[in-house]
Amino acid sequence: MEALLSVADYARAARRALSQEAFDYYEGGALDEVTLQENTASWTRFKLHYRVLAGVANRDMSTTVLGQPVSMPIVVAPTAFHKLACEAGEIATAQAARAVGALFILSSLSNTAMELVFAQAASPRWFQLYIYKDREITVELVRRAEAAGAEAIVLTVDAPGLGTRERDARNSFRLPDGLVVENLASLGKGNFPEVQGSGLAAYVRANFKEDLGFDDLEWLCRATRLPVVVKGVCRGDDARRAAEQGAKAVVVSNHGGRQLDTAPATCEALPHVVEAVGDLCEVYVDGGIRRGSDVLKAIALGARAVLVGRPVLWGLCVSGEEGASQVLEILRRELDEAMLLCGCSTLSDIGRWLLQP
Ligand code: FNR
Ligand code: LAC
Repeated sequence: MEALLSVADYARAARRALSQEAFDYYEGGALDEVTLQENTASWTRFKLHYRVLAGVANRDMSTTVLGQPVSMPIVVAPTAFHKLACEAGEIATAQAARAVGALFILSSLSNTAMELVFAQAASPRWFQLYIYKDREITVELVRRAEAAGAEAIVLTVDAPGLGTRERDARNSFRLPDGLVVENLASLGKGNFPEVQGSGLAAYVRANFKEDLGFDDLEWLCRATRLPVVVKGVCRGDDARRAAEQGAKAVVVSNHGGRQLDTAPATCEALPHVVEAVGDLCEVYVDGGIRRGSDVLKAIALGARAVLVGRPVLWGLCVSGEEGASQVLEILRRELDEAMLLCGCSTLSDIGRWLLQP
């Protein structure tokens, strides 16, 4: 078997392991996939103006997210339907995150019930929420997440509808027999409608609240005792308003290029958000992080942590829990190396100076 040394190696191996339909769902983006490509490409355009003779024999990349300790600033992003990748699905992902000491965020749209997943997940574990048209359903998801031990609610705000993914439309993407949207099954929303084209797009159209507004954020902050994180912001003004209304953190994200195509790469949006929110809340970023040096650049631009989506899915596809934890370990090793070579012994040593001559 070929050596799996990088996230890219895992991506290639995952392509071979998956059906075309499942691979396209995981890999694909909206419309022309411009933002999808830009997310990854634009991290590489920043060049690292490293410092020498800094004497950094020991590096420490541990940090906190909302006050909760994590071994590294690399978080498992919420992604849907892990049983397309491997039989153990989200249980494997939770175990992988636990093994490496990373924060795990479970998607609303998992193939495994949140109670089972959170029982396997070490602290911290957060639940990602989509707001349903039916408020009772949304309330029930929040209550169950609280009861199951979630320590924050991550409200995704960039998907009042689903961006058109032409790959999924062409493939008539649906869940294979036996797989459902497990958290919603007992609420009567476990299955995609039977339609032509993307079954997920039809599901979102039928169920997600299209007129999502700041009033919904305000409602959620009142409805739960857990801290609320707002995921999917692109602009400083939105981020600031979210923080002023009670969000404890924001995630600069364009949903991995899957929603609005030609939205800016997240590394372009990040500095504006960091500046606008100041000390009001924590800022994380995701999209196109494929190397430890990308993580370092995100931190240099002011992010507290990054989320990774597809890399973890590739790991799951290749070898389940083991693969997912290997991918996270690769990113950790690469970040450690980048810190060494840049002359940074802790995350607080990483700053804007690294990106400037
Ligand atoms: C996602 N993402 C996502 N986000 C979310 O809030 N809820 C979800 O259910 C999903 N589902 C989902 C499925 C798949 C297959 C992908 C690839 C992505 C978006 C995800 O959390 C994250 O923002 C991006 O994946 C980050 O980009 P990278 O790391 O995949 O480039
Ligand atoms: C996606 C949704 C489900 O990106 O978040 O596929």
